[in-house]
Amino acid sequence: MENYFEIKNLQVNYRTYEGEKSVLNIERIVLEKGKTFGLVGESGAGKSILAQTILGVLPRPPGVIKGGSIFFNGEDLLLKSEKNMRKIRGKKIAMIFQDPMSTLNPVFTVGTQIVRVIRQNQGVNKKEAIKRAIEKIELVKIPDAEGIMDAYPHELSGGQRQRIIIAMALSCDAELLIADEPTRNLDVTIQAGILKLLSKLQKELHVTVLFIANNLGLVSATCDNLAMLHDGKIIEMGTTNEVLYNPQHPYTRAFIEAMPKDREHDCHLKRIFANSNPKEQFSGCQNVSLCLEKEDKCNLSVPVLKLYSGTHYVACHMA
Ligand SMILES: Nc1ncnc2c1ncn2[C@@H]1O[C@H](COP(=O)(O)OP(=O)(O)OP(=O)(O)O)[C@@H](O)[C@H]1O
Ligand SMILES: [Mg+2]
Repeated sequence: MENYFEIKNLQVNYRTYEGEKSVLNIERIVLEKGKTFGLVGESGAGKSILAQTILGVLPRPPGVIKGGSIFFNGEDLLLKSEKNMRKIRGKKIAMIFQDPMSTLNPVFTVGTQIVRVIRQNQGVNKKEAIKRAIEKIELVKIPDAEGIMDAYPHELSGGQRQRIIIAMALSCDAELLIADEPTRNLDVTIQAGILKLLSKLQKELHVTVLFIANNLGLVSATCDNLAMLHDGKIIEMGTTNEVLYNPQHPYTRAFIEAMPKDREHDCHLKRIFANSNPKEQFSGCQNVSLCLEKEDKCNLSVPVLKLYSGTHYVACHMA
């Protein structure tokens, strides 16, 4: 049986003044329908580039798609024309961006913006679009939905703005939602509320979610499956329990150890925590100069993503 959503051998480069460099090299990601998949990696790992590539909004150039496939309902999105991608973007796959202020236009009211998205994607008249917009604002639990329609983005709190972004993403009843660090600029109590809301909506609306984060703590409570992205490569992947409670890659272990556990606990970011210098070329594992658990064999070849056990995959010679 074909997978609902599957990325295979995706390679994306970026053109820079110093030549092309690889920013994504993903062997495989599979999303199960109706489940939440967490993609975790530090800043610069390539998370947003992956989201942009899936949606077909990667700026090209400087981005260059070198090869691979992104299958969605059996069709390769990378082979679709821009015209056909417009039928999918917003309608079947929607995105919640990491910065609500850059998604919302400051000079239009919230209502004008949601209504425009609904009319563009669903072809309904203005009256019907207003009705649907109010329903979606109610869905994301902002009180006085009708009043909020007349508010400008700067009149809302950070949490309310992010809820509006979620309402906009949901306004066209997309079946796959890509949430790119949706709580990045919010304080922890507001973060918790947004995460709870996303998780509730995912269950109620049976949408599939690709949840992007740089914090394992955030995704562990909400995701069924997890992948660790480092330097544009998946280095570990499995169910949330497999990755979180039995991590096999030294990078994943360092990432988990760095999560603050209590007030007395210091965050020790091990040396392995840096993305490598793209100009350096290694014949072996890209982490070899930083890894505290390396052996001689790690210098010889690049580790590929291998099945470790169950549904747990690891790209490490030591696993
Ligand atoms: N305009 C650009 N020109 C050249 N390289 C770029 C450009 N944008 C991104 N990159 C490269 O792509 C890599 C991945 O960037 P991306 O924005 O996907 O990171 P991210 O994982 O989303 O980080 P963050 O958590 O900070 O959002 C960066 O490390 C950088 O090397
Ligand atoms: Mg990003």
